[in-house]
Amino acid sequence: MNKQIHFKSALILITTVICLSCNSNTGTSSKTISENPFESQVDSILGLMTLEEKIGQLNLPVSGDITTGQARSSNIAKKIEEGKVGGLFNIKSVEKIKEVQKIAVEKSRLGIPLIFGMDVIHGYETTFPIPLGLSASWDMELIEKTAQIAAKEATADGINWTFSPMVDISRDARWGRVSEGSGEDAYYGSQVAKAMVRGYQQEDLTANHTLMSCVKHFALYGASEAGRDYNTVDMSRIRMYNEYFPPYKAAIDEGVGSVMASFNEIDGVPATGNKWLLTDVLRDDWNFEGFIVTDYTGIHEMIAHGVGDEYQVTSQALKAGIDMDMAGDSPDTKGAFAKVLKASLEKGLVDIADIDRAVKRILTAKYQLGLFDDPYKYCDTERAKTEIFTQEHKAFARKVSAESMVLLKNENNVLPLEKSGTIALVGPLANTAVNMAGTWSVATNQKASNPLLDGLKTVVGDNATILYAKGSNVDYDLDYEKRVTMFGKDIPRDERTDKQLLDEALAVANKSDVIIAAIGESAELSGESSSVTNLQIPQVQKDLLNALLETGKPVVLVLFTGRPLAIVEENENVPAILNVWFPGSEAGLAISDVLFGDVNPSGKLTATFPMNVGQVPIFYNQKNTGRPLGNKEGKFQKFKSNYIDVRNEPLYPFGYGLSYTTFEYANLKLDKTSVPMDGKINISVEVTNSGNYDGKEVIQLYIRDLIGSVTRPVKELKGFQKVFIEKGETKTVRFTLSVEDLKFYNYDLEFIAEPGDFEVFIGTNSDACLKSKFVLTN
Ligand code: BGC
Repeated sequence: MNKQIHFKSALILITTVICLSCNSNTGTSSKTISENPFESQVDSILGLMTLEEKIGQLNLPVSGDITTGQARSSNIAKKIEEGKVGGLFNIKSVEKIKEVQKIAVEKSRLGIPLIFGMDVIHGYETTFPIPLGLSASWDMELIEKTAQIAAKEATADGINWTFSPMVDISRDARWGRVSEGSGEDAYYGSQVAKAMVRGYQQEDLTANHTLMSCVKHFALYGASEAGRDYNTVDMSRIRMYNEYFPPYKAAIDEGVGSVMASFNEIDGVPATGNKWLLTDVLRDDWNFEGFIVTDYTGIHEMIAHGVGDEYQVTSQALKAGIDMDMAGDSPDTKGAFAKVLKASLEKGLVDIADIDRAVKRILTAKYQLGLFDDPYKYCDTERAKTEIFTQEHKAFARKVSAESMVLLKNENNVLPLEKSGTIALVGPLANTAVNMAGTWSVATNQKASNPLLDGLKTVVGDNATILYAKGSNVDYDLDYEKRVTMFGKDIPRDERTDKQLLDEALAVANKSDVIIAAIGESAELSGESSSVTNLQIPQVQKDLLNALLETGKPVVLVLFTGRPLAIVEENENVPAILNVWFPGSEAGLAISDVLFGDVNPSGKLTATFPMNVGQVPIFYNQKNTGRPLGNKEGKFQKFKSNYIDVRNEPLYPFGYGLSYTTFEYANLKLDKTSVPMDGKINISVEVTNSGNYDGKEVIQLYIRDLIGSVTRPVKELKGFQKVFIEKGETKTVRFTLSVEDLKFYNYDLEFIAEPGDFEVFIGTNSDACLKSKFVLTN
């Protein structure tokens, strides 16, 4: 007992010292620390710890069974008391977290506070568009602010660590998790990664409104074969470095506090046990000094990967660089730090130094968060009442959602609609609050999201009549429907027959001046473990859409989706298509803002939409090949690199998105045609708003390095600006390229720029561009 008090006071003493150093650090950047300011405190604690307590710090169990009142008696509570838990995740509510933290701080021998993680992916209770949608805003300030708001809300509710951003580049729409990332481009993904990390961590990680960020899933998870989740990845190093690694590295350079290892293998070794990846690249080359957590049961899964038994996989993971084991300590797992690390040590498979190193990193993170200073600093019940899902946050969510929507087609200016007459709203996605947040929205207040029907009614008020019919279920197949509407995101199956549903919809449509069809994917049709082999809208909804088109009334397709879809038929037949992704808490209002022109759409795709699933993987920055197609129209040519049955071009290219106004590009100018290695080149272009609405345009700059020591892509994004231009106005938009922008990893994985000819393109998307050129000289 006395001993216990002694240990506790040792800790209190230590924390006082730290508190002073925290304060003096306030306002300094959270960027990677090269000298650990907490080293002596961490070492002192380490000296007090038993082996069991050390292993306990590496253990991140699921918190599923903890609810207020139960915590004390639950199995996990007992483990916390024994010092066998380092943190918990996905536990929601400040009361529950406070109660659990109390157990750690007051009941465990050393009183080491727990870290509380959560998948705060696109907002907390105030939910923003799914990440793929958010990325379509091309607005880094806005994206950063969404992370800031998420951090404010999550920390007000007791959370201090988020498993975000997810920066996996993906070029495969079959993969359901394409919805969780920022699309296909490494340069663009890097900008988003930085904005998210900045937003979560801000200037001071010890502040009580900032979250420690965890970049994931390291690495290459988005390149799983055939788009099947958790599948094998096999990739050349040169592609990794040039096309997949940059966003992870950008997050590291921005000072991200932690990294999550991915489920897939790399070069035949699961990422979780891959020393080259986690130590040689991440720590030695990129200087990452934070801690590395596995993904859910990642260590245990190495047994199924086939690299060894539980002793082998745990020791391999630890030695590779893993610090914390997520959900390893679950009833049905064997390969878990908590279960076998002690035995692995006894068997000589790991050294105590390996364990100590991991413990130190986790304790350091807890110091960085200020948890030793005040373990309850994120447990302010007053904040939880006033800072979550506020009017201000909701208003911001409405704005962000509208900014993320992409106008895919607008024939004869069907959009924007008038707030008058009779409007039919039809479709299974029209009146479902719980689907609006989309996938990976653990903390969202699902029922409080506004569905399109409510939003429309609010926005038109008494000016127009809204008639609603569901029109169809999500899918003809009930089993399939269940699989894509889980986790509380159900769209209750309508017991009426398909014909009855359709008849009702047609009756409503026939009474109306215009039809809005709210169709597409349900929220769980994308996300984790939601891979598909068919990129079409479910057939029952296609049939509904076709029937609506046959009425001859103008139809606007409001497309809900978590992935690029092959909507070729819809693109041919429906006059207006607005892609709204899953827009978040304020979905209905935000969609209505765009439909009626209160907001002019300005979103642009960050992932190519294919013509069909057979084109996948498809992306704009492909290589030329030795047999490129010789015509721009995409006409088939024998013995060239193309398909017999479909052209090479996608349905909508990367960067594509329309506006209610039109923009014209002219006078692409370079201030020089020859640039030395240490020089810069200034590039400008005039963009005129030639249409009838004020609007924002995302001006995109691409380059092509024409000759390289290794083959180079036909286009690479190197800059973008989102600019507001009034109707009739012309703005000159300027970019500067330096040699840094021209660098790439060569055959020997050196990051270099090579002298030679470059082309520059500026335009409204990756396909439609003005073109010029310059030479990089030695
Ligand atoms: C996912 C991660 C997530 C983790 C914790 C895993 O299944 O792959 O992205 O952060 O669960 O919820």
